[in-house]
Amino acid sequence: MLTGSKVGLRARHEDDTPILQAELHDDVVNYSRSDDQPWRPITPKSKDAQVVADDKDDRQVRFSVVELDGGTLLGGATLWGIDNHNRSAHIGLGLRPSSRGKGYGTDVVAVLCHYGFVVRGLQRLQIETLSDNAAMLRAAEHNGFVREGVLRSSAWVMGEFLDEVLLGLLVQEWKRDSES
Ligand SMILES: CC(C)(COP(=O)(O)OP(=O)(O)OC[C@H]1O[C@@H](n2cnc3c(N)ncnc32)[C@H](O)[C@@H]1OP(=O)(O)O)[C@@H](O)C(=O)NCCC(=O)NCCS
Repeated sequence: MLTGSKVGLRARHEDDTPILQAELHDDVVNYSRSDDQPWRPITPKSKDAQVVADDKDDRQVRFSVVELDGGTLLGGATLWGIDNHNRSAHIGLGLRPSSRGKGYGTDVVAVLCHYGFVVRGLQRLQIETLSDNAAMLRAAEHNGFVREGVLRSSAWVMGEFLDEVLLGLLVQEWKRDSES
């Protein structure tokens, strides 16, 4: 398991899937704000790649996020779009509603940076998020990500086009345990 100061990132267990499906995927607004694919229902116990980890997929790694103290499931985190030629990848995360706003998200980003830069040897990590997602922007910036641009009207979200912010972090800029 990968560990931060508050969270652990471990493999997706079978028991995690119905919880994450109910609390994250089945919240249509949250899903639509967090994913670039249109929401659609998932049949219970299906092996849909949105909630079940595929260990053979070289381009993404899905983790379950747990509390270090006690092991409570907090949410999910993904390193996706892994490009081993350009040595880059994207970061995505979603926490259960009861786990938000407690500093876990900032720690998850830190652990994903460790995984991307140290374990995978990547050179660049990237995050795209809606420009009004203050918590995600702060969690990224606390870990040293810088805003590289605004993708105007790039996301179709529940009936309107919204701007996304593109944030990037290079390995040489990354400071372990960074806080800003
Ligand atoms: C985005 C998300 C991962 C952030 O994780 P989190 O644990 O809630 O965030 P943290 O508690 O680490 O807080 C990070 C910063 O955001 C601020 N923050 C937290 N919730 C906030 C909110 N609702 N509005 C404004 N700021 C907020 C915190 O105060 C903190 O800033 P500070 O340290 O300068 O005070 C989490 O809220 C979440 O899962 N949201 C729903 C899914 C989502 O939006 N995923 C990202 C898709 S790109």
